[in-house]
Amino acid sequence: MRMVDLIEKKRNGEILSEEEIHFIIQGYTNDDIPDYQMSAWAMAVYFQDMNDKERADLTMAMVKSGEEIDLSAVEGLKVDKHSTGGVGDKTTIALAPLVASLGVPVAKMSGRGLGHTGGTLDKLESIPGFHIELTTQEFIDKVNENKLAVIGQTGNLTPADKKLYGLRDVTGTVNSIPLIASSIMSKKLASGADGIVLDVKTGTGAFMKELSDSKELAQAMVKIGTKLGKKTMAVISDMNQPLGLAVGNALEVKEAIAILKGEGPEDVLELCLTLGSHMVVMAQKASSVDEARKALEDAITSGKAIETLKTFITAQGGDASVVDDMSKFPEAPFQIKVKAQSDGMVKSIEADRIGTAAMMLGAGRATKDDQILLDVGIILNKKIGDAVQKGDTLVTLHSRTEDAKEIEAMIQEAYDIAHEHIEAPVLIYEEIT
Ligand code: URA
Repeated sequence: MRMVDLIEKKRNGEILSEEEIHFIIQGYTNDDIPDYQMSAWAMAVYFQDMNDKERADLTMAMVKSGEEIDLSAVEGLKVDKHSTGGVGDKTTIALAPLVASLGVPVAKMSGRGLGHTGGTLDKLESIPGFHIELTTQEFIDKVNENKLAVIGQTGNLTPADKKLYGLRDVTGTVNSIPLIASSIMSKKLASGADGIVLDVKTGTGAFMKELSDSKELAQAMVKIGTKLGKKTMAVISDMNQPLGLAVGNALEVKEAIAILKGEGPEDVLELCLTLGSHMVVMAQKASSVDEARKALEDAITSGKAIETLKTFITAQGGDASVVDDMSKFPEAPFQIKVKAQSDGMVKSIEADRIGTAAMMLGAGRATKDDQILLDVGIILNKKIGDAVQKGDTLVTLHSRTEDAKEIEAMIQEAYDIAHEHIEAPVLIYEEIT
């Protein structure tokens, strides 16, 4: 087989066989196929697309390019959740203990933040003492004991995806549904889950800005998962403004704790209950979504969910007393209020600009090796559909410096205040099975 023939085949809109796709992915992983040929191929896929079988074959080829996590020693059906990423998305931190409290095993492999979205690992590390370095055996033991453990990516998972994603980033081929869907699904499948619930974000702060694109991506991923024998479903949720009120590491963990105490913002709770009820059904711990939702609500009311969170924190070396005394979280020295400059209603909040503002305060990384600050971030005092009067606080910056003029200006730019009636946006657009 020659790579040049396969590039031409895809360029001409023909279908690649499983064997041909494996040849490409294996060859690229082993450095037998050079970047320039792989770029040309990715561009051919970008323009010519792939059918469902090719997408599943590509996903599997990337899974097989590296190690796979064997979770067979974890008792019960393991259901993973994946979000395509958004600003203020602390869902995992509340959702994981919530579903684990109903006996669903959650063996979660999470990542760090880059750019305007944060990462679950960074957020969890704002809990004093919490660590994510566990051996695979410790990880499995903790899931069996407590139904929940979270680690960073271990081993050499999907090296083909790592290499190809880097290449796509610099060759204008990121935005291709078959390439995105296979990239995300290969990582999920290599992490050993039996079932996958996908939270596909849509809107200004999301990777996919248009609902139709988000829907196409969600459908593509569900088809791949199903074709490869994994129960998979997707929820399309709004990211036209940050999720909840907090953006920044410790601030987001505090909000997640509030959710589990029944005191958190409505949107985060709703998303957790929606995603969680599908996870519980997939794990066969409830026979319907309604029954699962009721059980999750009861776990919050009874305190079972918050107890699971405390056990999880303690098991990973953290100080669980922060749950009852949130003043033990790191606190930024300055709180700067950014005030509305006119009366009206909040029409839009550019989520990615809020994310970038939080990053500039130090909550996120501009480059992979940046150090982050756990205490800084942003609290939104107003969200879309809220009425404001000139002088009201739009957001509160939690800052290490007293002067944050540039960031205040960004916040003003991010908020659009209109003189018309504005409804709060829909949170869940669609569920795809
Ligand atoms: N996220 C991924 O993991 N892969 C993509 O291709 C795009 C977003």
